[in-house]
Amino acid sequence: MAAPAPAAERARELRAEIERHNHAYYVLDAPTVPDAEYDRLFRELQDLEQQYPELLTPDSPTQRVGGKLLPAFAPVLHAVPMLSIRTETDTGPAGAEAFDARVRKLLALPNDAQLVEYVAELKFDGLAISLRYVEGLLVQAATRGDGETGEDVTQNIRTIRQIPLRLTGVAPAVLEVRGEVYMSRPDFESYNARQRALGRATLVNPRNAAAGSVRQLDPRLAAERPLSFYAYGLGETQGWTQPTTHSATLDALAAFGLPVCTHRLVARGAGELIAFHRDTLIRRDSLPFDIDGVVYKVNALSQQEALGFVSREPRWAVAHKFPAEEVLTEVLGIDVQVGRTGAITPVARLRPVFVGGVTVTNATLHNAEEVRRKNVRTGDTVIVRRAGDVIPEVVAIIPERRPMRDLFSGEPLHPPFELPRICPECGSTVIRGEDEAIARCSGGLYCPAQRKQALLHFAARRALDIEGLGDKLVEQLVDARVVHSPADIYGLTCETLASLERMGEKSAQNLLAAISNSKQTTLARFIFALGIRNVGEATARDLARHFGSLEAFLAADGEALQQVPDVGPVVAASIAAFLAEPHNLEVIDRLRAAGLVWAEGEPTQSGPRVFAGKTLVLTGTLPSLKRDQVKALIEAAGGKVAGAVSKKTDYLVAGEEAGSKLESARKLGIRVIDEAELLKFLDKGVEE
Ligand code: IVH
Repeated sequence: MAAPAPAAERARELRAEIERHNHAYYVLDAPTVPDAEYDRLFRELQDLEQQYPELLTPDSPTQRVGGKLLPAFAPVLHAVPMLSIRTETDTGPAGAEAFDARVRKLLALPNDAQLVEYVAELKFDGLAISLRYVEGLLVQAATRGDGETGEDVTQNIRTIRQIPLRLTGVAPAVLEVRGEVYMSRPDFESYNARQRALGRATLVNPRNAAAGSVRQLDPRLAAERPLSFYAYGLGETQGWTQPTTHSATLDALAAFGLPVCTHRLVARGAGELIAFHRDTLIRRDSLPFDIDGVVYKVNALSQQEALGFVSREPRWAVAHKFPAEEVLTEVLGIDVQVGRTGAITPVARLRPVFVGGVTVTNATLHNAEEVRRKNVRTGDTVIVRRAGDVIPEVVAIIPERRPMRDLFSGEPLHPPFELPRICPECGSTVIRGEDEAIARCSGGLYCPAQRKQALLHFAARRALDIEGLGDKLVEQLVDARVVHSPADIYGLTCETLASLERMGEKSAQNLLAAISNSKQTTLARFIFALGIRNVGEATARDLARHFGSLEAFLAADGEALQQVPDVGPVVAASIAAFLAEPHNLEVIDRLRAAGLVWAEGEPTQSGPRVFAGKTLVLTGTLPSLKRDQVKALIEAAGGKVAGAVSKKTDYLVAGEEAGSKLESARKLGIRVIDEAELLKFLDKGVEE
């Protein structure tokens, strides 16, 4: 049946409107409609297209997902080669100065001539992509390949909702947009969280994730991976007068509806480039995606043309990197550290090396299993990584560089690492539970390593919040044998404190005031402050809410503990073990005697239990989760799953082929969410 004109008109409207919402949501980060309304428009368009297949256009938002499985990617010859950029080796200011000096020299600018104008951009750490728009319609997306020939990845690129399928405004006959596909850190984290929840393989890092997803032959798998895109340049154009500067070109791309990163700057001279490099490095960790440096480009196209190319690199652009986050160094030895909970962590002592902007002398090896898996030994040359504020870690060894074997015995010079049998701090036995990766010192509160950290934890802001009782002081108090357990804190006097090094009378008084203030606390904080293994802030809140009083909590046995939401056998066992230790109970008694009081049964925040008190109903088939998995996830987040929609339903989780439940939910005005939203909620909480 031919589509009547009003249906065709409506389909056109819907396409435009949905893409407008996509752009607002994915590019401008400023949603214009509630999700349910978006879903309604989307479904209306799907229905129309199903009824009148001839209304289905390639730029329809319904066509982003769901191509066929490809045997291989077809080659694509780039009309304009995809170039690479030269990298300045110096990661300091000299890098920018060298580039500016080269540009000035090549342009034959006298020393007193004006400063050269540049655009400073971020160097995104993903995969270069060329998007080809013909008459405004996205017709092809290709990888860089060798720069001349790439691979046709159109099907996968179409799933990236930031990328317009049709350009806004008057589009050129041909416009090739070059840019970077990447995976944002939050998307990477929540994707991995979901994979872990489903017991599936996780992605290694956002960059591999982006590259792997774009080159994924199964479009369904590719569509599951949340990717993003930033445009930063042009390939072939026809029927378009390009603006005369690069900055205006980027503005034009943004006006076409393409995502262009706003963290960019028109900079004059080397000084402003250096400032951009420095400021960006400072902000690097707070960006929601990875970058490995910045890029400078001469702004005026006339100057770009004058500068031209050397081999495959333009002379008008340069990458100015940040200090490397991965370097090679040598393992001088493997020590173990004892943590607050007694966890024994092997640590590689390293030949000092500059990485991620600091000198690193130690790197964590996480646990004995990890050391065995990575096969790290003293004398090995290893890759060490330090990204942002993350603890430096040993990524891998370079096997070829392992020192020779003993000439006589043929044995490697250094034997494999073995866990010590006794705690290096207190001499207590080291134990490792079955199936447990972590070995622990059994010395509990007697082990000085744990004692210090237990005190620090007790005084921490989110625990009893004793301002001024920090690292150094705890160190002094424990070393001077003044404080052995948290209860001793409340017996401190002004004289004892003032007698400590670097502690004046004034600071001593301030600290005593803070200690006294800390007595007024909450049960949740108190439970958290005890430092029971596996009891974090959220669990402590649940326990406080559930038991309502310390007495009830102390009296609870393993079974009673498991009645608490989110408390499973493991957590219950570690609480029970803690409460079975007379020494711990003695500390608690002494704390109470010191006059600690709290608001019993306080109202507590829900933490990650985002669906606490909510009722959800499931319908249809979800793209990746099975029903019982969804149910488990919702229940773990405090929600209830009901069989039928009623006025009491808070959310309907709808998948494909949702039937009458969806209709009832719509009628009752109940919020309908899909799997992706559900997972977002579970990850980030529900925004009402
Ligand atoms: S411009 C003619 N700008 O870095 C210059 N490239 O070797 C062509 N990259 O893999 C590239 N961020 O994908 C340019 N703001 C940016 C970039 C950028 C990342 C990547 C690019 C390519 C490599 C250049």
